[in-house]
Amino acid sequence: MKRLLIIAHAPSSNTLKLRQAAERGARHPDIDGVDVLIKAPLDAGPKDLLNCDAVLMGTTENLGYMSGALKDFFDRSYYAVLEEKQGLPCALYIRAGLDGTGTRRAVESIVSGLAWSWAQEPLTLHGEWQDAFCDQVEELAQTMAASLEAGII
Ligand SMILES: Cc1cc2nc3c(=O)[nH]c(=O)nc-3n(C[C@H](O)[C@H](O)[C@H](O)COP(=O)(O)O)c2cc1C
Repeated sequence: MKRLLIIAHAPSSNTLKLRQAAERGARHPDIDGVDVLIKAPLDAGPKDLLNCDAVLMGTTENLGYMSGALKDFFDRSYYAVLEEKQGLPCALYIRAGLDGTGTRRAVESIVSGLAWSWAQEPLTLHGEWQDAFCDQVEELAQTMAASLEAGII
């Protein structure tokens, strides 16, 4: 069974809704060949990456950068997975008050250093909160899981 790892920082009720939407999408009832593991970045570590076949990351933008929690996860995991996980399919959603570009750039730079491969374009959810953000994250997670099950990522 393939495994999709979802690592998402959720410091607010809105971002918690996004993480729940990611879980809903990834655990869509039509997808039964994928095991889904969901963790907060501070609870996750390199072993979780070593044991997954794709990763979906979720973060807020704070002070023009990814959340400290996601950065800490990368700090603890980078060299431990560098050799083994090259080509790992990944995706990202960013919840930002108004921007998100600094976060996108920073994660893209780390993903490039790790030689992971973008399975989907990073998704930035910025501006005033919209319930439609949940639909977008759910769709992203469902696409990741379905692609993994189909063997196309
Ligand atoms: C300390 C702090 C710094 C923030 N910095 C940024 C920022 O640089 N750019 C941005 O677009 N949003 C920024 N925000 C807004 C957060 O991204 C946003 O509040 C968070 O994603 C939670 O979304 P929500 O308010 O819909 O729950 C910041 C929020 C906090 C608390």
